[in-house]
Amino acid sequence: LFPPVRAVIEIPVELGARSYRISIGQGILERTAGFLPSIDYTSAAILTHPHLSDPYAEPVRRSLEDRGIPVTIITSPAGIRGKTLQTAARLYGRLLAVGIDRKGLIVTVGGGVLGDVGGFVAATFLRGIDFVQIPTTLLAQVDASIGGKTGVDLAGGKNLVGAFHQPRAVVIDLETLRTLPLRELRSGLAEVVKYGIIADEALFEFLAAQMPLIIRRDFDVLSSAIERSCRTKAAVVAKDETEQGRRAILNFGHTVGHALETVTGYRRYKHGEAISIGMISASLIGESIGITPPDVTTRLAGVLRAARLPTVFPAEVPHNEVLEAMSHDKKALSGRPRFVLARAIGNVEHGIDVPETAVRAALARQGLGFRV
Ligand SMILES: NC(=O)c1ccc[n+]([C@@H]2O[C@H](COP(=O)([O-])OP(=O)(O)OC[C@H]3O[C@@H](n4cnc5c(N)ncnc54)[C@H](O)[C@@H]3O)[C@@H](O)[C@H]2O)c1
Ligand SMILES: [Zn+2]
Repeated sequence: LFPPVRAVIEIPVELGARSYRISIGQGILERTAGFLPSIDYTSAAILTHPHLSDPYAEPVRRSLEDRGIPVTIITSPAGIRGKTLQTAARLYGRLLAVGIDRKGLIVTVGGGVLGDVGGFVAATFLRGIDFVQIPTTLLAQVDASIGGKTGVDLAGGKNLVGAFHQPRAVVIDLETLRTLPLRELRSGLAEVVKYGIIADEALFEFLAAQMPLIIRRDFDVLSSAIERSCRTKAAVVAKDETEQGRRAILNFGHTVGHALETVTGYRRYKHGEAISIGMISASLIGESIGITPPDVTTRLAGVLRAARLPTVFPAEVPHNEVLEAMSHDKKALSGRPRFVLARAIGNVEHGIDVPETAVRAALARQGLGFRV
């Protein structure tokens, strides 16, 4: 009748004065205030989407109000077009109207889009106020909510305006995943698989064995997968907060993945789906220059297919356009893309400059009829 009471998992993100904790549990939104390092705020604004307001923002509101913090819930429409300067401008206006001051708090309740724009607003409103991330998609729980990258998209590209602004806390309630569309769950799993490849072979093996239970949203296995992913993200960010070096390993699969999203106008693929294809590209590119052993590609494709994520490079997307998009990537150097490539499951290298012929050969291999 009652869900079992599970212990809350706490993961520290060690960033000196900007350190915070990720708290993972089930049914914990009612206790949000208890996960904050301080409740010394004049008022709070919860930013969320209309359909998430009743189930997820309301319990957060009750928790903060019980501790004496007046709360306003501000909603913003869902969708990737929500991550814009226009949305930010509208939110600044609402924050002013409801009287959020420098001792105010912003709480984001939503996926990566809302967390990124809400975090950016928190970074810039009154030159920066405190904020808390309450991610409600798997992708935001394991990736977007952690690490302090905030920002918005421009017409000319994704994430082109932004700021580093660390949250005061990240609160992950597994219960929010119950209402997440299955396609979004699978998309988030691509990033979980990524953590396996870049740093955690045990997680990779766990996913290979438990994928059916994960897809059925078994909270025990999901909780372990989220915990291990968050630990890796936290460790990588702690060593390289502003991506001067090793943080780049988080971009495994993203060089081709981002280009594919750009070329297909962000309509055809969810982010994780593009990253799934991009991780196979990275593996095949690694094979073609002798860095990645072929069995890595086989194992990676097996796990991604078990999650029903795409692995074939789409026949109708011209390779020239993908190469062109990669050369404009903001992580490219002098127009040449840099790759993160795997030496083994759990061990990657970043900043690798690959000859264009090797990239073309890999994409061709990954086309229709791709099998490993
Ligand atoms: N800051 C970072 O480090 C970082 C890292 C990775 C990705 N991102 C960004 O994250 C964004 C993608 O985030 P996303 O995949 O979470 O997409 P999203 O925020 O668009 O959410 C996907 C959809 O799910 C809905 N939704 C959210 N939670 C729900 C729930 N619990 N139940 C039902 N529906 C729910 C949303 O309304 C939306 O329609 C991109 O803009 C990407 O750039 C940022
Ligand atoms: Zn990603």
